[in-house]
Amino acid sequence: MENDATLTEAQTKIRACDDLAALRAVEREYVGKDGVVARLLASIPTLPSEQRREVGQGANQLKQAVLEAARARESELAAAALAAERKGAGFDPTLPPARVERGSLHPVTTVMREVEDLFQSMGYTVLDGPEVELDYYNFEALNFPPDHPAREEYDTFWCEGKDLLLRTHTSPVQIRTLEQHAPPIRAIVPGRVFRHEEQDATHEHTFTQVEGLVVDEGVNVGHLTGTLKSFLRELFQRDLDVRLRPGYFPFVEPGFEFDIRCPFCEGGCRVCSKTTWVEFCGCGMVHPNVLRAGGVDPERYSGFAFGFGLDRLVMLRYGIDDIRHFMGGDLRFLEQF
Ligand code: DAH
Repeated sequence: MENDATLTEAQTKIRACDDLAALRAVEREYVGKDGVVARLLASIPTLPSEQRREVGQGANQLKQAVLEAARARESELAAAALAAERKGAGFDPTLPPARVERGSLHPVTTVMREVEDLFQSMGYTVLDGPEVELDYYNFEALNFPPDHPAREEYDTFWCEGKDLLLRTHTSPVQIRTLEQHAPPIRAIVPGRVFRHEEQDATHEHTFTQVEGLVVDEGVNVGHLTGTLKSFLRELFQRDLDVRLRPGYFPFVEPGFEFDIRCPFCEGGCRVCSKTTWVEFCGCGMVHPNVLRAGGVDPERYSGFAFGFGLDRLVMLRYGIDDIRHFMGGDLRFLEQF
């Protein structure tokens, strides 16, 4: 049959190909858009109807056979190339190596490590906790009973079933720490937290907090302010005025908002909205119910806790004007660090 001769010819040409480009050219010649097979198929409407079926089938068989031969030759070529490479062909040891792209640390990671170093130098341990958390640790054991209105302050991503959530703050690790370690405790917990809220230049669904927890005999508010002041002095490399305002968080009593004198201005700027004060963190004395939930006797021990957002410190440090850059994945942003 005519097709047999065509196939034999194609197979011969395919076997003679020494590289992939030549092979592709032969493939095109036979099974390409204007190739032999395409022409055969195009001729079908001009044929007497009793021949059409046979010519159609023949063309398809020819196509399959050519493709099969081409695939076989392609693996032979690949095997030969690999063997040659293994023998050292084409390898020039005098050429310079390919350039390796180096990444760099994310600015949040850089500042986080600095914060960890500072607290470690004050005798703190750095701890960790789960990002998918139980309602019990995120709220209940922190003295937010079910239906407590303060839960509304935390725009929560719930997982199915309502017992699991993405932690809205790092405070649940307070309970986990109390459960696992006996006082004296001095720990910080840096980590990601999640809020289901509208995003803008200062709000992200995912951000970073640093929790602090100190529990021992005789701990008081003076220890809290002293600790935060020393930390801030190291971080900003100078003494900053601070102030405590009353603040409500169910897991501390008394609870405070801790402000620092704006480190960037004398008398009012954009960062402090011309007030000269910048909110730094929430803090307070650990509530007796929290100590009890963690198995610690509030008659014997007391403690303080604080929680601050890391992202804003990083934004202030590097002059970053939009928190969404952190998670945006834009290399033009990341390559600056
Ligand atoms: N967890 C609180 C929040 O995300 C911040 C906070 C306030 C942490 C007071 C504390 C604290 O440890 O004592 O809004």
